[in-house]
Parts: sequence; structure tokens; C-alpha cells
Amino acid sequence: MSVATARYSRSLVVIHWVTALAVLGAWLTAEGGREVVRNPPLLHFWLGLAVLVLVVPRLILRLAEPAPEAGPRHGWLAIGATLGHGLLYLLLIALPLTGWYAASRMGVSVPIFGLHLPAIAAPVQGRPGLIAELHENGGTFILILAGLHALMAIWHQFVLRDGTLRRMSLR
Ligand code: HEM
Ligand code: HEM
Repeated sequence: MSVATARYSRSLVVIHWVTALAVLGAWLTAEGGREVVRNPPLLHFWLGLAVLVLVVPRLILRLAEPAPEAGPRHGWLAIGATLGHGLLYLLLIALPLTGWYAASRMGVSVPIFGLHLPAIAAPVQGRPGLIAELHENGGTFILILAGLHALMAIWHQFVLRDGTLRRMSLR
């Protein structure tokens, strides 16, 4: 396959876009503080957990197949992209886990398919603590980072005209 037509596998492309929608949905449905206890945002929990579930096959597939071949890139751009993608992957794992922790600390149960997610921390009265705060700020940080990531992809596509968007598309 030439550099111009190289793209991620169909499964990775589908997972990329479903994950992006789930992250956006989780951010839009997020609640903080007492409201979470009074009226738990179940959609937020489910969308966030979908992100965690999807990252498993994604990482397995990604480790099994290298990224599609890319044209020559400036050293610092390539390093920036690798670091940015690595940070995005890290957040895709850390955010749902810290959210699960925050829910446990707040004593909020997370129903799923008729069961309940086991608590991973003891419930406390009052503020749920530093990790819950990291979750709240990280939740907004991933959206900003993904926005920058999207701008970079658009810049590659329309200014450098190197077909970057095609690498993450089905056709
Ligand atoms: C929450 C939203 C998003 C997340 C978490 C995300 C995450 C990622 C990650 C981790 C990669 C690296 C894939 C790998 O090498 O395994 C990637 C690649 C890519 N993403 Fe996103 N992404 C998001 C949204 C977007 C948007 C909105 C666009 C386009 C406007 C986009 C376009 C791309 C492209 C073109 C690639 C391939 C880059 C390359 O290898 O040259 N992404 N994304
Ligand atoms: C990618 C996935 C996720 C994103 C982007 C995200 C984003 C956010 C954001 C931005 C907030 C702050 C809302 C505010 O203060 O108004 C928040 C709060 C919260 N999220 Fe998530 N979240 C995700 C996954 C999860 C998951 C999987 C769970 C639980 C299973 C969860 C549970 C919570 C809880 C309990 C809070 C309230 C924390 C507090 O008030 O201290 N989140 N989330």
C-alpha cells in the first residue's frame, strides 16, 4: 500500500470515531458535586465506561498492527504527534477509572446491565478527594487536547495536503 492510500484498519477507524463520540457525550452529560448524589448522571457513567471498554480491543489491535506508513514529517511534529496520541490513550484509560473511583467515594452506585459496578473505594461524607478533582479537570482537559488534535489533523489535511484525514477514514 502506498503512503497516499495507507490507513488504519476498519476496526481501528470505527473504534476511533465511536470513542470520540462517547468522550464528547460523556463531557456533555457530566455533573459535579451534590447533584451527582441526588440525581446520578447514568448516561455519563455509561458513555464513560464505553470509552474504557473500547480502549481494550483498540490497544490490542494497535499493538498487533503498526500505524500506517506516513510520508516524511518534521522531527518535532512527529514527536509532538506521538506524545499527543500517547497522552490521549492515557486519558482514555485514566478518566473512566478516576470517574469510577469518584462515584465510589461519593457512595453513588453505577448500574450496568442489571448489575452494579463494584465500589473501588470506600464512600466518604463530604468532598470525594483529589482523584475526583483530577477526574473533573481531566475530563475537560481531554476535550481541549482532542480539539487541538483535530485542528492538527485539519491543518495536515488542508494546508499540508498530505491526506491525513484519509488515514482515519473508512473509504
Ligand atoms: C475525543 C476525541 C478524540 C480522541 C480521544 C482521539 C484519539 C486519537 C488517538 C489516540 C489517535 C492515535 C491512533 C493510533 O496511532 O493508534 C488518533 C489518530 C487520529 N485522529 Fe483522533 N481522536 C479524537 C478526535 C479526532 C477528531 C475530531 C479528528 C478529526 C477532525 C481526528 C483525527 C484523527 C486522525 C486523522 C488520526 C490519524 C493520525 C495519523 O496517524 O496520522 N481525531 N486519534
Ligand atoms: C471519557 C470519559 C469521561 C469524561 C470525559 C468525564 C468527564 C467528567 C467531567 C468534565 C466532570 C466534571 C463535571 C462538573 O464538575 O460539572 C465529571 C464528573 C464526574 N464523573 Fe466523569 N467523565 C468520564 C467518565 C466517567 C465514568 C466512567 C464515571 C463513573 C463510572 C464518571 C463519574 C463521574 C463522577 C462521579 C463525577 C463527579 C465528581 C465530583 O463531583 O467530584 N465519569 N466527569
